[in-house]
Amino acid sequence: MELLKEYNPYLEYKNGELFLEGVSLKELAKEFGTPLYVYSGSFIRDRFNAYKEAFPDALICYAVKANFNPHIVRLLGELGAGADIVSGGELYLALKAGIPADRIVYAGVGKTERELRDAIEADIMMFNVESRQELEVLNELGKEYGKKVRIAIRVNPDVDPKTHPYIATGMRKSKFGVDIREAEKEYEDASRLENIEVVGIHCHIGSQILDISPYKEAVEKVVNLYDKLINKGIDIKYLDIGGGLGIKYKPEDREPTPKELAELLKPILSGVKAKLILEPGRSIMGNAGILLTQVQFLKDKGAKHFIIVDAGMNDLIRPAIYEAYHHIVPVKEENREKVKADIVGPICETGDFLALDREVQRMERGEYLAVLSSGAYGFAMSSHYNMRPRAAEVLIDKGEVKLIRKREDYDYIVVLSS
Ligand code: LLP
Repeated sequence: MELLKEYNPYLEYKNGELFLEGVSLKELAKEFGTPLYVYSGSFIRDRFNAYKEAFPDALICYAVKANFNPHIVRLLGELGAGADIVSGGELYLALKAGIPADRIVYAGVGKTERELRDAIEADIMMFNVESRQELEVLNELGKEYGKKVRIAIRVNPDVDPKTHPYIATGMRKSKFGVDIREAEKEYEDASRLENIEVVGIHCHIGSQILDISPYKEAVEKVVNLYDKLINKGIDIKYLDIGGGLGIKYKPEDREPTPKELAELLKPILSGVKAKLILEPGRSIMGNAGILLTQVQFLKDKGAKHFIIVDAGMNDLIRPAIYEAYHHIVPVKEENREKVKADIVGPICETGDFLALDREVQRMERGEYLAVLSSGAYGFAMSSHYNMRPRAAEVLIDKGEVKLIRKREDYDYIVVLSS
């Protein structure tokens, strides 16, 4: 299969020009300016439906942190997604985008009292509790509201997801969850609290997992705990196994599918009556999106060739902080001389690069490049560093091109209180 289609089947060259869902990316860049995030609605639908087909009885709670554009969250909500949230802001957004409260799960080690109250008032499906103190505070708040607060405890199964250390979350030394070896006691204590209703077990081992075998180990441990809790009369209704399926970034990456994950887990889950919850983020949004950027200048310095573009680490920080590889292709592909270049942004940091020593066709000032696999943790992690307004976002869906976030202007950032 043609390489581009392995990233996103709706991405193709026609007469040397790059199109997404039949829309010319050059035309989009001209119309909306750059840097520009462009998402494919069909891809998002396909990916969500692949999860639904692989896990027909599960609730798929989209991890809003991957891409919090309200139009995208609404689209997923309409397809039947719930939401995995990690802040009061994400709660606000998920509700506004039409996700029913009874499909919202809330994780995070540092929920503030305001955030806890908002989620109790909204009556969300369950809190994924990360510490004993959080549990105690929820119990007190439950008393004040005259409610039983539904919770799962996030357990840390101590498995190595074989991913970048910054995004591995399920190992013993990480800040997340409670140690699975202490979980039984935590559950017993929680089940005695008057204003707490224990309803689930939560675990999330990490992100960008390409080799899915660690899921087996983690879910085995979780099911082992589930069996023990059921035997103790603690009614576990939900088993939330988190997100984390990896996607193709490098040309040689092979991404696992939801179906493969379902097949791996089927034998382990066969005796489990609880409803399954999954929290995918990247595997739905990552390859739905690209970042379009324009070449500003070219320069040679010593032996190095630099392609200086208008998207920087303020727009896409993944290469800078995880040394992440993003495949980059020209919007106009021609049979030109190939060069090895550092593709860098305008930010005043040496770490501001999109690619190092990358082989690309020789580019010209004013031309466009497309940075692939940018739909998840792209815009979501962008910033105003160097006082640069954040990019615009466009969604192509059902043949329509929709501006789903306007480009910011300077006044959006410069707010002086008098
Ligand atoms: N559930 C929980 C509790 C999580 O912490 C996360 C991601 C997810 C679900 C979704 O994981 P996904 O399916 O997207 O892998 N900024 C990093 C990724 C950080 C992931 C944080 N947690 C990156 O750009 O690679």
